[in-house]
Amino acid sequence: MIAIRSSTAGSLAPTPLPLEHGGRLRAAAARYRIPVEDWLDLSTGINPDGWPVPEVPGTAWARLPEEDDGLEEAAARCYCAPGLLPVAGSQAAIQALPQLRVPGRVGVPTVGYQEHAQAWQRAGHTLVSLDDGNPGDELGAGPDSLDVLVVINPNNPTGRRWSVSRLLEWHAQLAARGGWLLVDEAFMDTTPQDSLARYTERPGLIVLRSLGKFYGLAGVRVGFVLGTPDLREALRARLGPWTLSGPARHVARLALADSPWQEATRASLRLASTRLAGLLSDYGLVPTGATDLFQWVCTAEAPAIQDRLARQGIWVRRFDVPSSLRFGLPGAEASWARLESGLRCLASDARGDAFRHAAVEAPGIRPFSSAAPPLAPARGPLPGDSR
Ligand SMILES: Cc1ncc(COP(=O)(O)O)c(C=O)c1O
Repeated sequence: MIAIRSSTAGSLAPTPLPLEHGGRLRAAAARYRIPVEDWLDLSTGINPDGWPVPEVPGTAWARLPEEDDGLEEAAARCYCAPGLLPVAGSQAAIQALPQLRVPGRVGVPTVGYQEHAQAWQRAGHTLVSLDDGNPGDELGAGPDSLDVLVVINPNNPTGRRWSVSRLLEWHAQLAARGGWLLVDEAFMDTTPQDSLARYTERPGLIVLRSLGKFYGLAGVRVGFVLGTPDLREALRARLGPWTLSGPARHVARLALADSPWQEATRASLRLASTRLAGLLSDYGLVPTGATDLFQWVCTAEAPAIQDRLARQGIWVRRFDVPSSLRFGLPGAEASWARLESGLRCLASDARGDAFRHAAVEAPGIRPFSSAAPPLAPARGPLPGDSR
C-alpha cells in the first residue's frame, strides 16, 4: 500500500516515499510555468480567511517556550477537553503515536489522509483497510479483530462523518481489549458538538485537533493530542521538550481564546461551502461529499479537469483512488469570479461536455442521501447513523 524507498547509504534504514498533499503550489507553478503569485490555490482545506495574527512580542522569539503560559488552559476550554498535549501540528502525533504500541492490527479508512496508514505501517503494525472507514465486524473479540481503529471525523476528502454515539460504541469495544480508538478531528472545528473531546479521559480514546484548517494557521504547526494523562506523558517523553516554538504558543493561545471570531467563522464557512457546492453543481461537478472547508467531487475525468483548471492557474487537489477532486474555498470575491470563469471555460470546452455527465460513485463511499437537495453541503446527516 505504501511505497518504500531503499537506502543508498548503508547505515540508513529504508524509508517510505513522502506522500503527496495539497498545497504544493511551487511544483504546480514550475510545471505549468505560471508564477506562484498568479495562482488561485484551492488545493487544500485551509480556511482562506484565517484568524488575523497580531504582532508577536519579542520575548516569544527570544525566550525558551514555557508551559505555564496559558496555552493548555485555552485549548482545553476551547475544545471542552479534560487534558491535552500541544504538538507541532497533529502530523507530529500521527507519526509518533504508532510507536507507543506493540505491533498489532490497525484499521484505517481506505480513502482518507494517508499519513495515518503510512505511520502505522512504518511502526510495524498490520494495516486493515476499511471501506468507507467502517470497521464492520473487525471490532469483535478474536485473533483477527482490530487493536486500533483510526477514524478521520469528518473524513478528508470524503466528508464522511460518524456520530458520537457510534464512535463511543466502537471505543468501548476496543477499550475492553486494551485497544485504541484514534479520532482525527482536524476538520471538526466547524461542528464542535460532534467532537469526542469531552470523553478523552476514557482510557484508549485519543483525539487529535489541528490549528491548520479552521484557523487557517497551517504554517504555525500547532495541534493537540487529547487523551489520558499516561498516554500524554508517554507521547511527551517520545517527542521531547519544546515541541512548539514560543511564537506558535503565543498565536495559538490567542486564537483558541477568540470565541467571537470562532463563532462568526463557523457561520461564514458554512455559507461559503454551500456556495461552492452550488457553483460546482452549476457546472456539472456535483459534490459527493464535503465539510465546511472543502467540497469533494468524484469524477472519472479528474485528471483532465485538474489539468484544464491548472492551465488557467487554478490549482485543485486530485485523488486517483477513487478518481476525484477536492476544491477548497476561494475566499475573496475575485477568487470566486476566477473559479467561475475557469469552470465556464471547462464547460464550454468540447471535452468539458463529456465530463458534465461523468460523475462516478466512489466504491465503498456512501454518497449524499438521494433525499438531500443536490446543492446541499454534506453537513446534514447521511443515511444511517453517519453524520
Ligand atoms: C485529516 C488530516 N489530519 C491531520 C492533518 C495534519 O494537519 P496538521 O499537522 O497541520 O495539524 C491533515 C493535513 O492535511 C489532515 O488532512
